[in-house]
Amino acid sequence: MDMRKKIAAGNWKMNLDLEEAQKLASEVAAMVKDEYIGQAEVILAPPFPFLVPVHRLVSDVSNIHVAAQNLHEQEAGAYTGEVSASMIKSSGASHCILGHSERRQYFGEDNALLANKIDQALANGLTVIYCLGETLEERESGVTAEVVGRQLAEGCFHLDASAWNRLVIAYEPIWAIGTGLTATPEQAQEVHHYLRIKLATQYGDAVAQATPILYGGSVKPANAGVLFSQPDIDGGLVGGASLKARDFVEIIKAL
Ligand code: 13P
Repeated sequence: MDMRKKIAAGNWKMNLDLEEAQKLASEVAAMVKDEYIGQAEVILAPPFPFLVPVHRLVSDVSNIHVAAQNLHEQEAGAYTGEVSASMIKSSGASHCILGHSERRQYFGEDNALLANKIDQALANGLTVIYCLGETLEERESGVTAEVVGRQLAEGCFHLDASAWNRLVIAYEPIWAIGTGLTATPEQAQEVHHYLRIKLATQYGDAVAQATPILYGGSVKPANAGVLFSQPDIDGGLVGGASLKARDFVEIIKAL
């Protein structure tokens, strides 16, 4: 009955050095291989310099994939310091996180730019984890649905229905990221359900029912189970807790 993939993605953000990254990737791979039996997809999103070594360490575990945390919207060229979708793909990564609130907030990324980044990612064969979410002020003034609806529509609704088999949505309320404040399962479910209805209205039920919608924001072993038991929550995008192999694997098991 449930046709959607279950996904646990670890966003390492700007943390760890090479040795620590390799240790974490090896530990997660070993635990997933030894302990975890099931269909869930596991995604590790290390910083750019660690994509290749992390991919090498997990490539023999078929349900672990590697993601970048960002990419540049142009194909190639004189963009000093930037990283293209094709570079990421050739590193062995299969996914890219786009639209994280930290990119929107600190690097000025808006929905129009993100629509271009999504096109680049898809054109280069990557699967996109597109993040959206409201600030505390927006939630308190009752515009959450409007804000996330706009982020979804302006970022993604230029795509054909056929693109949606390589899109994952991640709802991350900004007030819950790194704060220890988690959305209640009901608050998260309400937004996930709203996003799925928006997808159904735009693309029809098949796309809406097949698209994984992840929750992010202070997911930990202690709250993962109750969040993931909500009907429209298909997994988690995990920050802090993904930096500890044991905690991240417990979250995977909660799927
Ligand atoms: P935390 O899990 O540390 O709150 O971070 C969530 C996040 O931003 C994942 O992308």
